[in-house]
Amino acid sequence: MSSSEAPQPLLSRPRGALKGTLTVPGDKSISHRALMFGALALGETTVEGLLEGEDVLRTAQAMRQLGATVERLGEGSWRLQGRGVGGLCEPDDVLDMGNSGTGARLLMGLLATHPFTSVLTGDASLRKRPMARVTVPLSHFGATFTGRSGGRLPLAVTGTATPVPQTYELPVASAQVKSAVLLAGLNTPGITTVIEPEATRDHSELMLRAFGADLTVSVRDDGARVITLVGQPELTGRAVKVPGDPSSAAFPVVAALIVPGSHIVVRNVGMNPLRTGLFTTLLEMGADLKLVNEREEAGEPVADLEVRYSALKGVTVPPERAPSMIDEYPILSVAAACASGETRMVGLAELRVKESDRLAAMADGLKACGADTDVAENDTLVVRGTGQPPRGGAMIPVNLDHRIGMSYLVLGMTTAEAVGIDDASAIATSFPGFADMMIELGADIHGA
Ligand code: S3P
Repeated sequence: MSSSEAPQPLLSRPRGALKGTLTVPGDKSISHRALMFGALALGETTVEGLLEGEDVLRTAQAMRQLGATVERLGEGSWRLQGRGVGGLCEPDDVLDMGNSGTGARLLMGLLATHPFTSVLTGDASLRKRPMARVTVPLSHFGATFTGRSGGRLPLAVTGTATPVPQTYELPVASAQVKSAVLLAGLNTPGITTVIEPEATRDHSELMLRAFGADLTVSVRDDGARVITLVGQPELTGRAVKVPGDPSSAAFPVVAALIVPGSHIVVRNVGMNPLRTGLFTTLLEMGADLKLVNEREEAGEPVADLEVRYSALKGVTVPPERAPSMIDEYPILSVAAACASGETRMVGLAELRVKESDRLAAMADGLKACGADTDVAENDTLVVRGTGQPPRGGAMIPVNLDHRIGMSYLVLGMTTAEAVGIDDASAIATSFPGFADMMIELGADIHGA
């Protein structure tokens, strides 16, 4: 587990253009859901392209502890025998969700309407993260939670045997909260409704429907999405094909944009429109980024991305775009530090409660690398670029945050002085093999 092993410091320095073709690991959001829904479905579910990162492996282990049969057949290839909706059984040990907020929060949704007690914990990062955003709506179904202040992990959940269906309007744009409520609604008689004022990633809705749930989505006059789920459906096992994770593709894409002379292709990237805010923003910044071979696979749009080094310019990223690129602000701020002019990323309060405080991690780390950056009102990250990369020459604390680690390794590929990270171990939560893949493309990354 990343928090208990010796830290793995890494240094990244420029070596020249990045060239080649790569395939990034499977989508983390879709992988978690494939395992959870497969564990709830009747019959066999097969998954191809599953992300075998630590976060998803924790979910696989949790679903086994709850009684599902979960087997690895080969690289990215998995098979499950589910228990049926409402069929999970009491685990005989603590469910350790590692670094994964998605795993923990979605699982709490499932457990809220199964009538037994489970205890959840996680690593030092996950134990700091707010869980009240899910325990509050899940308590309305009838579940009880006993946790640390702020509902933090470790936490015990006792699911209810007599769940009451809810209509819940999300106070914060969060696909994790939306999904937790929908998963609680699965084993609740009657109709569960979630209203989201701002659209967030809809992998739960798409996949629940594909497994046979009766789920509808409509858009209100004020633009809010209204999702209704008829409880206690019979979900049927199926084949799931997981596309490459756009949030992982973001790192090699930005690396190619900021390292002079680069030209790469990233194959098989998921292009769900609720995930592609970074690519929209990079195009506005003047990126030479082309979508080729656009297609649909298992209900999700997919494309290959062809990227060439580009002279980027600063832009303002509006707050309403945040849900579609919430995990991409760290790497976008690296691109902004190499662009000319000011980039303003507005409305980033949610970044403070990710695997680490990403707003502080980017403002402080970029400053340490010589970039002109600060945090303005309304949690706005401002980065003023000169059109040349900042100096580099800093060792950045990662604080168990994979995306912070990868962002600074990418920055070091183009700065005059090397950029280091104090611990690369967290990168394996979402992108196992990241450093090796980048080295293959021409990066110089090695132990510090
Ligand atoms: C995720 C939702 C996002 C994202 C996370 C994965 C999901 O979190 O940051 O990496 O799979 O539902 P929020 O929904 O809390 O914004």
